[in-house]
Amino acid sequence: MVHKTDLEYAKKLDREDPLAAYKKRFYIPERETLDMGGKTKSVKPIIYMDGNSLGLASKDAEEELKVELERWKDLSARRSGIDKKTAELQAKLVGAEKEEVIVTGGASVNIHALVTTFYKPKGKRTKIIGDELNFSSDIYALAGDIRLKGRDPEKDLIVVKSRDGRTIAEEDIIAAMSDEVSVCHLPSVYFVSGQLLDIKRLTKAAHDHGIIIGYDCCHSVGVISHKFHEWGVDYALWCNYKYMNGSTGAIAGLYVHNSHFKETPGLPTWWGNSPGNRFDFKQEWTPTGNAASWHLGSNLSIGFCVAPVYASSKMIVEAGLDKIREKSLKATDYLMFLIDEVLSKKPYNFSVGNPREAERRGGHVACEHKEARRICEALTARGVPPDFRPPTTIRLSPIPLYTSYQEIWHVVQHLKAVIDNKEYLKYDADKKEAY
Ligand SMILES: Cc1ncc(COP(=O)(O)O)c(C=O)c1O
Repeated sequence: MVHKTDLEYAKKLDREDPLAAYKKRFYIPERETLDMGGKTKSVKPIIYMDGNSLGLASKDAEEELKVELERWKDLSARRSGIDKKTAELQAKLVGAEKEEVIVTGGASVNIHALVTTFYKPKGKRTKIIGDELNFSSDIYALAGDIRLKGRDPEKDLIVVKSRDGRTIAEEDIIAAMSDEVSVCHLPSVYFVSGQLLDIKRLTKAAHDHGIIIGYDCCHSVGVISHKFHEWGVDYALWCNYKYMNGSTGAIAGLYVHNSHFKETPGLPTWWGNSPGNRFDFKQEWTPTGNAASWHLGSNLSIGFCVAPVYASSKMIVEAGLDKIREKSLKATDYLMFLIDEVLSKKPYNFSVGNPREAERRGGHVACEHKEARRICEALTARGVPPDFRPPTTIRLSPIPLYTSYQEIWHVVQHLKAVIDNKEYLKYDADKKEAY
């Protein structure tokens, strides 16, 4: 796509944006921020580029929380059915049958719950495939589950290496697949570089080798549509507080393909037991015949953890995931263009660290700079909170429902000003941790 560098062009993109009206349904906090010259401070709405980490609060979510409070007061909360309604909406977002999705637990817990269900070392099929760039919870869960099954991660965990330190080659994952592998567990989108894996291709390759394959989709659900059922994905999980805007403390989501509905979960609970037997409290556990078997207790999937997720799932289904992805791709394309045009030469020296092809990139741009951490602090002081992932990545995420093209243009001007005014030099050069 050919873009232009002037602000008028960004305004034109905003005028043409079919999702522009959604912005007013979100709360955009105001903060004391620096003007472009770095001297005068004034109170203005922030330019929020961190929705890939924690989505903004919406008025829809607030309303649904108020409704939930009333349900608690009048004791109707347990019968509201909000958990099932939310799961049905989420099934639409991931391309699943409605019985294949539930809302339960949290992302890290759901990784454990699913891996421990499907990893059944037997005969020579004893290994799990992971990779060195996945989120730490995933790697810990894989090694932890191998240990729980009485085995040694040194021998049974295959960690696919990155060739460039940023991305994983799908050919390398496929090359690791063999009849010694029980489970392959991958992310949909890598949390630092934003690389999007070809889930359809990898799922087919895994099944050709008799391997169960599952995905951590924390960085794709809500911004990229999936077709889990059609592609035959065995399991998946995601959180609901990033692109889903489902709030801090939000219940997470989980998908299990219907061919596995007779499995006994690795972490069975009373609420995952067949509804007819739930109150028998007998020793034996019976599957529900759908993904509800994987419920991690009853209490979180109704009430305050789910109400904002219900509201935000409704909003995303209403806006349309295809339109959301279309804007996300256009907005990240525009941001990459501006980084190349305005910020790539001396003295700025920024570069784009995510894959450029639309089918290989997620919802954020990995903007690279050797001073990334200090630049993030300076950007935040300017009222543009991004996040920093060591060693050199500034994650910038235009969120289709609330980021305008003009804001993207302004972010790039702020990055330029941080370097022009040497503002980042004020911050501690020795701090290295994520920000
Ligand atoms: C890819 C991925 N998986 C898992 C998690 C862990 O999520 P939680 O802390 O909600 O368990 C995160 C958190 O950022 C993540 O990015």
